[in-house]
Amino acid sequence: MASGKVPQEIEWHIDYDRPKSELDAEYIDALINLLSRKLGRKLGSILDVPCGNGRLHDYFRVYGYSVYGVDISKELIEQAKKSHPGEGYEYSLGDMRDFSLNKKFDVYLSWFTSFGYFDDKDNIKVLRTARTHLKKNGIIIIELSNGTPTVEYLKTHPKSVFIHERSGEYLSIERPYLEYEDGVAYQVRNESIYKKHGKDLLFVKMQRLNRLRLYSKEDLEKQLVKAGFKVMRTLAGYSFKDFTEGDKRMVMVGIKE
Ligand SMILES: C[S@@+](CC[C@H](N)C(=O)[O-])C[C@H]1O[C@@H](n2cnc3c(N)ncnc32)[C@H](O)[C@@H]1O
Repeated sequence: MASGKVPQEIEWHIDYDRPKSELDAEYIDALINLLSRKLGRKLGSILDVPCGNGRLHDYFRVYGYSVYGVDISKELIEQAKKSHPGEGYEYSLGDMRDFSLNKKFDVYLSWFTSFGYFDDKDNIKVLRTARTHLKKNGIIIIELSNGTPTVEYLKTHPKSVFIHERSGEYLSIERPYLEYEDGVAYQVRNESIYKKHGKDLLFVKMQRLNRLRLYSKEDLEKQLVKAGFKVMRTLAGYSFKDFTEGDKRMVMVGIKE
């Protein structure tokens, strides 16, 4: 059995290749354009939190946005800075619950299951910090999986295992499970990393991916309202159709009035 530091190249973010990032960026741009038209003003600045390595930012530059990215990972912020030099692209290390940039933006973007990492008390802090950084009539966009079917799935498939290929050389075996705290459901995701060695798999390490509060549409709407937003629309992921209970992903749009 081998063990040791997992090379950076097998971390989560490199699994998401350009086509997915391109699709994400195109959808976000179309949504922002739609909202700009609705509000009658250009929404040109995006605060992307957490931004990871800024995988969407090359596209955002082409579309003409200025972007500020915040993430808790020093390594990812360094990567983002290096890959996106130049005017209109800024990055800071920070915890999404509590940071202060002394700047206000048109759009706060929480993309790709980047909200719900804490309990409700701390998740509200994330939304309040977001609100502080928005201009009047600024928009918050949150993209998440729909918590309701995830709870059902994890209840009925308690031993689910997901196997992901990592850089051809490694496998990640993920075992998600359901955990309840104060009556609300969380999905806990741990993964074990193995290095391929002929027909064998050599264990490298086990790591916590995240512990995610599983929000239903109604629960997330309540959080947004509590944090001072008005919910404008909730869409089915990657579409402009209204969200329905059977949808796997949801995109919630709120406004700071
Ligand atoms: C699933 S990734 C999504 C990143 C980005 N939104 C995207 O679409 O690529 C989640 C990110 O959350 C960051 N993160 C985790 N906890 C955080 C915290 N408390 N404050 C800020 N960033 C955090 C991680 O470093 C990681 O980059």
